[in-house]
Amino acid sequence: SSAFGTQRIDHLYRDSRRSGTRLFLHYGDMSRLERVSDLIQTLRPDEVYNLAAQSHVRVSYDMPEYTADVIGLGSTRLLEALVGSGVPAKFYQASSSEMFGDAPPPQNEETPLRPRSPYACAKTYAHWMTRVYREGYGAFACNGVMFNHESPRRGRTFVTRKITRGIADIMAGRQKYLYLGNLDAKRDWGYAPEYVAFMWRMLQTDAADDYVVGSGETHSVREFLEAAFDYAGLDWRSRVKYDERYARPVEVDELAADSAKARERLGWNPKIGFDALVKIMVDADMEDAGLEPPGEGRAALKAARVDEWSAGGAA
Ligand code: GDD
Repeated sequence: SSAFGTQRIDHLYRDSRRSGTRLFLHYGDMSRLERVSDLIQTLRPDEVYNLAAQSHVRVSYDMPEYTADVIGLGSTRLLEALVGSGVPAKFYQASSSEMFGDAPPPQNEETPLRPRSPYACAKTYAHWMTRVYREGYGAFACNGVMFNHESPRRGRTFVTRKITRGIADIMAGRQKYLYLGNLDAKRDWGYAPEYVAFMWRMLQTDAADDYVVGSGETHSVREFLEAAFDYAGLDWRSRVKYDERYARPVEVDELAADSAKARERLGWNPKIGFDALVKIMVDADMEDAGLEPPGEGRAALKAARVDEWSAGGAA
């Protein structure tokens, strides 16, 4: 594609000709082994974090083959390139709580995987391939089974950001209604920077392993909606309408993490809870829309000292 997908890291990017530049971007395509393999050979990385995906569950029903290719086979291409190159890089695979499907909550490392979407099937394949390369070829390859993690940088078509962006647009007079699908589904939502710091932590161990990572707290989409609209001082009932285009052929009803293993072995201890997360996201979208936010989200971040914790963890 000629459209760049770098918006979320543009603030980190600077011209590589400037001295002191430490971030370099390279073109690649998860659907082509040759390119992935060339990059591994040239860059000889110490650590590889595979977050590449068609990551939208609803979209995966419209594009099942593409989703399977870039997630399922893409991960295999990366693992194959690593093992084939002889580069002893540590490998992180972004596995997903969607793989649990309709397995009853709470879900942990022993819970059977029962995927219910093309996306989840592709993630399940990648998850097991990561284990195959670990157990079969001795690769240092870990699966982080992450539950939903959100932030102001979340894509606008995912439900949390769609809601907080919708609130800002309604308040700014840019839209009247917000159209959503199923409000009854329950998710275990956390704050993305804490999860990303934990991805790094997983690769700093001596033995590769799989970890379930979530907050342990579950809320419905309706609860997120209520909390966000209440915080902004709006009545969601007069502003939200149902649109079947956003419903899924099969739904994952309830996800709730049992992260005891991550907590006990690697000190997983997220600081930002559901209320703070909602406020952080509403504040950010209001500010972005030129509105004065209530500011409680920023205060919660400061109180939890999460930015320092994340930076400290990844230093
Ligand atoms: N996207 C979206 N848009 N979801 C909606 C809407 C809507 O208008 N209305 C209701 N929902 C419901 C969905 O049906 C789902 O039950 C829930 O909101 C959350 O949807 P998403 O925010 O799209 O996330 P997800 O849970 O399907 O998947 C995310 O989390 C996974 C981890 O469990 C994605 O980030 C995946 O890539 C990730 O693996």
